[in-house]
Amino acid sequence: MFEQIARVPGDAILGLIEAFNNDTNPQKVDLGVGVYRDANGNTPVMRAVKQAENRLVENEVTKTYIGSHGDPRFGKVVLPMVLGAESPVLAANRASATQAPGGTGALRLAADFIASNLKGRDIWLSTPTWPNHLGIFDAAGVTRHNYPYVDENNRLDFDGMLATLKTIPEGDVVLLHACCHNPTGFDLSREQWDQVLEVVQARKLLPLIDFAYQGFGDGLEEDAYGVRLLAENVDDAIITSSCSKNFGIYCERTGCLILIAKDEESMLDVRSQAAITARENYSNPPAHGGAVVIDILEDDTLRGEWKSELTEMRERINGLRRDFVEALKPYGLDEQFAFIAEQRGMFSYTGLSPEQVDRLRDEFGIYMVRSGRANVAGFSTENLPYVAKAIATVVKG
Ligand code: LMR
Repeated sequence: MFEQIARVPGDAILGLIEAFNNDTNPQKVDLGVGVYRDANGNTPVMRAVKQAENRLVENEVTKTYIGSHGDPRFGKVVLPMVLGAESPVLAANRASATQAPGGTGALRLAADFIASNLKGRDIWLSTPTWPNHLGIFDAAGVTRHNYPYVDENNRLDFDGMLATLKTIPEGDVVLLHACCHNPTGFDLSREQWDQVLEVVQARKLLPLIDFAYQGFGDGLEEDAYGVRLLAENVDDAIITSSCSKNFGIYCERTGCLILIAKDEESMLDVRSQAAITARENYSNPPAHGGAVVIDILEDDTLRGEWKSELTEMRERINGLRRDFVEALKPYGLDEQFAFIAEQRGMFSYTGLSPEQVDRLRDEFGIYMVRSGRANVAGFSTENLPYVAKAIATVVKG
């Protein structure tokens, strides 16, 4: 029976991990999968996380199930982080939190929730978007469409985006990246978010906001502008939040599906559906990552340490963006790539073609996604001159 099943290519992003590890080039550089890297190219366990884990090991008394919504304390700490401590949405009990296996798990819950409860509603994704968005909504059976996000000069195409949003049929779902747009790094300004809200309200769209990189753009609060604006000004919204990145606990798979409804009663209705969706997928979420997040956010000292480490990480990435442009100066490419310093988050859409990306891999051992997406956190003071020279080589033909 199995002999009829065809082999498919591996995941374009995760496949880079193995390809990079197998490369014997001593100068190889990993600009692939979206994980933070320090100056030595490592993805360390954050200091606050280590402390919380030590405490957890010491104090843990059970590994029993935590329920389909996860640990209730998880929602209590994540909701204010996402929606704001003073959020009117929280004051009105309009938000439900379901702990999920990573932001990806939260997205799959969102997709299944839409497929089961909002039949006939299609989803609209930015072009480009995180490639796994396509697979997740296809797997759940939600029909997808696109809205433009980047123009032919590799710049944010906000006019094109807005024009298409205005044509979306009433009631359809629009997926927005809260910050640190993956893969482009182009974020909306506050004024642009305000305009998106107007269209969402006018067309009665359901916003699904993917909030995978809170804290990596301009700050924990700043990055939440669009999320909070929409949450506070529409009846219904879906947010998928990730703690995997901002707590550096990637392999612990820690995320949250947030459902916002027009009042508490309606919230309890959709919350009951989220529990069923989780139960049918994996029953209960993994507990450890959530326990770490709870421990850190409930403790003022650990919370302060975590925030300052996250700030260091963000500032390092933003500094590397400027350093990269600077490193291209000797090749006369600094103006052409100046936009990289304006983008936010781990990723930059470099504008390099798939053929140029292939050359970087084959001739220089530099790995990035074939769409031209580079993980800026993979740059370092040591490798920037090498990367700049390699890029100049492939750009100049
Ligand atoms: C990425 O886009 O590199 C990350 O979100 C990791 C992943 O799962 O693709």
